Amino acid sequence: MGRRPFSSRVPADLGVNRLARAIQDARSRGRQLIDLTLSNPTRAGFVYPSDLLAPLGHPRGVTYQPEPFGLLEARRAVSADYARRGVTVSADRIVLTSSTSEAYSLLFKLLTEPGDEVLVPRPSYPLFDHLTQLDAVTARPYDLEYHDGWTVDLSSVDRALSERTRALLVVSPNNPTGSFVSRQELKQLAATCAERGVAIIADEVFAEYQTRPGACVDSGRTMEVGEGLVFSLGGLSKSAGLPQVKLGWMALAGAESLVGAALERLELICDTYLSVSTPVQAAAAELLACGAAIRKQIQTRIASNYRMLAERVEAVPACTLLAADGGWYAVVQVPSIDSEEDLVVALVDDGVVVHPGYFFDFPRESYVVVSLLPPEHEFAEGVTSVLRHIERAL
Ligand SMILES: Cc1ncc(COP(=O)(O)O)c(C=O)c1O
Repeated sequence: MGRRPFSSRVPADLGVNRLARAIQDARSRGRQLIDLTLSNPTRAGFVYPSDLLAPLGHPRGVTYQPEPFGLLEARRAVSADYARRGVTVSADRIVLTSSTSEAYSLLFKLLTEPGDEVLVPRPSYPLFDHLTQLDAVTARPYDLEYHDGWTVDLSSVDRALSERTRALLVVSPNNPTGSFVSRQELKQLAATCAERGVAIIADEVFAEYQTRPGACVDSGRTMEVGEGLVFSLGGLSKSAGLPQVKLGWMALAGAESLVGAALERLELICDTYLSVSTPVQAAAAELLACGAAIRKQIQTRIASNYRMLAERVEAVPACTLLAADGGWYAVVQVPSIDSEEDLVVALVDDGVVVHPGYFFDFPRESYVVVSLLPPEHEFAEGVTSVLRHIERAL
């Protein structure tokens, strides 16, 4: 075959993995599967009011108003939403995006040269591999450690920093560990990053979801960092269970001069794409307000599923539920009888889908990751199948 015109930003191997193949095979045989990896809130049995998206049809949306950072009324609505959570950030420091994934891409364009490095927590969200690679940056891991609770291994941050590090990603609470960055950790990370000219990108998409009461208020407050450059990312996708609406945002904090310089540059980047639709911006305030009802249902679900998971796992001495403070996921440590991959493929045969720890770059086996979103009865049935499988295998 001759030379092909494709970038190495897209991986050469686009094949499906063994778990995805097992799922496809089972479904093609008509097998019903309980999906404990469900991450789409619009398919999790929550009640979405039938007129929820009516604000998208408002006549204001007919007139195109190109604004690099988004319409001021929408940015004010996001600022008011931060205020509702007790976070002060003015509308002129808010930039609208179509999603958090897009916000990452804009920030990598703002902060990096091709080949530069960004520090990414490990374990964490698998999409970071693609998000970094597609923008020609290298993801370098720093570690989260578990000792009855997750903490940031600050020495691993120091080891991972290099001349080429441009940004450090903090995911709070993290997917899938459910750990929030603590105030003390944030203080230290902010000092290290400011000193080294490294920006902090704080992914706070799950910031309002807690499995431990009080976890949200205890967590590190990224918008209060007064040094260096800090970006807080959020969006309707998780905060209102509306990934299909495509409205995200970033908010800036840090040293005044750096924030100003970042906004000047972001203006050019955002003006080049103008990716957020006018109807969604015109509807932002109403969507943020209506989203509260969906958020409440999600919060109730994840807290109840997490409690139930804790009870079920407690009854199986070979397994341990890792303490999670928030987010939509939970991690169960399981005995290493077979490899994680063999286990999750065997579980598909039992009719249940879970993620193996290695998808999230856990440093060792064996862990399974489950979503806390599925309806309670399905979740209970799925968890029972997983634990029964493990007990049988012992
Ligand atoms: C940590 C984290 N950040 C970002 C996203 C994606 O958010 P969005 O839909 O706004 O791109 C996800 C989705 O699962 C996530 O887990």
